Amino acid sequence: MIVDIINKKRLGKELSYSEIDKFFNAYLDGDIKDYQMSALLMAICINGMTDEEVFALTKVFIDSGDVLDFSGIIDNMVDKHSTGGIGDKTTLVIAPIVAACGVPVVKMSGRGLGYTGGTIDKLESIGGFKTNLTDEQIIKQVKDIGVVITSQTANLTPMDKAIYALRDVTGTVSSIPLIASSIMSKKIAGGADKILIDIKVGNGALLNTKKDAKELSRLMREIGKIYQKEVVTIISDMNTPLGYSIGNSLEVLEAIDILKGKEIDSNLYDLCISLASSMVSLSKGIDKAAAAKEVFEALNKGRAYQKFLELVKYQKGDLKKCTVSEKVKYIKSPKDGFIDSINALELGKLSVALGAGRVSKEDKIDFEVGIKLKKLVGDEVKKGEVLATVYYHKDFEMPKVETIFEIG
Ligand code: URA
Repeated sequence: MIVDIINKKRLGKELSYSEIDKFFNAYLDGDIKDYQMSALLMAICINGMTDEEVFALTKVFIDSGDVLDFSGIIDNMVDKHSTGGIGDKTTLVIAPIVAACGVPVVKMSGRGLGYTGGTIDKLESIGGFKTNLTDEQIIKQVKDIGVVITSQTANLTPMDKAIYALRDVTGTVSSIPLIASSIMSKKIAGGADKILIDIKVGNGALLNTKKDAKELSRLMREIGKIYQKEVVTIISDMNTPLGYSIGNSLEVLEAIDILKGKEIDSNLYDLCISLASSMVSLSKGIDKAAAAKEVFEALNKGRAYQKFLELVKYQKGDLKKCTVSEKVKYIKSPKDGFIDSINALELGKLSVALGAGRVSKEDKIDFEVGIKLKKLVGDEVKKGEVLATVYYHKDFEMPKVETIFEIG
């Protein structure tokens, strides 16, 4: 009985492979209702899963769809995934850098989840940009220009797609076993040989403590071992937003600035260098310092920016159509001092209130709205100076400046 499986997990007992397989596949077939799956997900969230259960769930996710194979087309295919953050536009920057270093990149990305943005939404703010490529189109493009960013193809881990949407609206996103199986199943089914995971920790991330981030890292590496995939994890801060911008078009424009060698004084730039170097190092089997040298060269010689332009053109995007709203309001400093902190979560909430993210699955995103920081942590400010510009269309409630900026 279905309810027996829910009760077993509610009592904190271990589910067998066949119970997990049966329950999740029945959901995908429509024989288990959303409310029953939600109950099981909540029981998992509260009671956790053993490693064996997580391995079983990952396998069930992978087996729910196709498994791509790039052997013969890409050797040592390396993929990267972030657990999601505020202002996280790293993929837009590092995919062209890594490709410009001669490492082919096929990046399958997702949409926003909770207050965290998604790469696919960001790319769609470039008018005309196609994010729904078929397997054949992906293979042709990676052979032609060495870089592709697309949404997950239709039949790749369809089980994860269904569960992910339900988790988003049932308060079951922040579960280590569910995050591990969701991300690892997608990376394995996507054909990666080597996997780099950027685990975000902080108030603007799915995980709030370093202890949880370390546990997620361990679990993902264990899953990798089963499938003979090398998994490297980086744990990075998400108490502060990444870079200057939050919001879809604004983030694309910031990524372009970095690729052009501007705005390189932010935490975003440092993280991009670190992630791109790790990807090149993993793929080429060289040490990270040697990989970083290649990364700087690709950036400084303009090859990474040219690769980005090639990518946009190939996927039919028109950068002239990546625009921001003309309606702006300013957040100003209430006093003289130095910025001690900028609250990522509060900025994430504001961006969703502006329309840059979704409140429910069906919501349409407003690509032109968001927030651009004028000052970063450590900067000196004067009373009345602009701390951030808010780009908006519809009316919104401006949060108190103190909830976002701590000025000491
Ligand atoms: N990203 C994913 O792909 N899945 C999760 O569960 C969380 C972040």
